[in-house]
Amino acid sequence: MLWALAVADTAALLLDGDGALTHANTAAQVLAARLHPDDPAAEPAALLACVPDRAWDAAGGDGRWIGEVATAQPGLVLEIKFFSSVQDGARRGLVVMSDVSARAARERELQRRHDELQQTYSRLAGAQEQLLQSEKMASIGQLAAGVAHEINNPIGYVHSNLGTLQEYVGALFALLEGYSAALQSDDPAAQRAALQNTRDRLDIDFIARDLPQLLAESREGIERVIKIVQDLKDFSHVGRGEPMRPSDLCKGLESTLNIVWNDLKYKVRVEKHYGELPLVECHLSEINQVFMNLLINAGQAIAERGSIVLATGSEDGEAWISIADTGCGIPDEALQRIFDPFYTTKPIGRGTGLGLAIAYRIVAKHHGRIEVASQPGAGSTFRVVLPLVQPPQAEAPAA
Ligand SMILES: Nc1ncnc2c1ncn2[C@@H]1O[C@H](COP(=O)(O)OP(=O)(O)OP(=O)(O)O)[C@@H](O)[C@H]1O
Ligand SMILES: [Mg+2]
Repeated sequence: MLWALAVADTAALLLDGDGALTHANTAAQVLAARLHPDDPAAEPAALLACVPDRAWDAAGGDGRWIGEVATAQPGLVLEIKFFSSVQDGARRGLVVMSDVSARAARERELQRRHDELQQTYSRLAGAQEQLLQSEKMASIGQLAAGVAHEINNPIGYVHSNLGTLQEYVGALFALLEGYSAALQSDDPAAQRAALQNTRDRLDIDFIARDLPQLLAESREGIERVIKIVQDLKDFSHVGRGEPMRPSDLCKGLESTLNIVWNDLKYKVRVEKHYGELPLVECHLSEINQVFMNLLINAGQAIAERGSIVLATGSEDGEAWISIADTGCGIPDEALQRIFDPFYTTKPIGRGTGLGLAIAYRIVAKHHGRIEVASQPGAGSTFRVVLPLVQPPQAEAPAA
């Protein structure tokens, strides 16, 4: 037994009933010297100073204690196993010590890297949040030209209508002048023919028919501008930190369609099959961004002419919105990748490959899913499915 201890490469210390050292092996001597490098005569007994009080207590009680202790020597970490038992009426102890400094250092390094990764992860999550916002702003930037056009159109005809209305008002005032001159004359009845003449010359009958139409058209134009501006406002709303609210997804889809309309109207016919849709608890401005990315993709998938069918419905506590296009479709091997960030088949400058990745992330955050069915050459259908009510843990802060 003592021979085995002598050749073992872990330090072993045998103790008597009082805890005094009765035997130490060579490895213990070596370890004692490492513990006190400035004292060449360091005795193995000095190692016992490393055994913590709780180890003595535990070994005395349960018969064993195993643990790791950092020593006074910087970087030197020992694993200590302390066994104690009574044999032939006498208590004896065995303390085995191994140098686990390398392992402890590795573990510290691992912990450090883990903490670093954790920090990077938090930063990444923050950056992703920012990316989400800036992608939204970038897409608004891209759409700005289209939106400006959408606003310019009604403004253009309202402006031209105002010019015509100004002429009409001039004619009406001229007629009024004629009437008041006739009223003030000695024989108003004699002015009848002259007045009729003025009426015909000023084309008052036409003005009477055209004026209400012009006014209605102008009002409609201004309302369209108000609507687009409101949609843009809703769309760019940040809403960070706000709770999710029960929202009308159909309204969201309609206002998003308004914003992207300029990109679609020349080649796409839009069909709508809206079913019953209860309010859905969500951040509507984020869901609008999902709609926008899907609508733009659908438009871009259609080369010349085609249609987009929008449908909504709800079942089993979930709402769904589908956007189906008659575009180029997606081959099977690409279907696996379309949600990957930066996956794009579009030319540089047209696509960054972030649209669907961001849509996926937003929908996942809402505990929903996006389903895709596609047939190359025939078209694709993207279906966004969202729970009507968020599960209770939804409000808990993300880990
Ligand atoms: N409706 C669709 N029809 C056909 N292919 C589609 C459709 N939607 C997405 N894809 C394919 O998935 C790829 C990734 O789409 P995603 O929206 O993520 O990026 P992108 O449209 O290429 O660029 P970005 O949206 O950043 O401008 C597209 O490049 C396209 O190949
Ligand atoms: Mg896209």
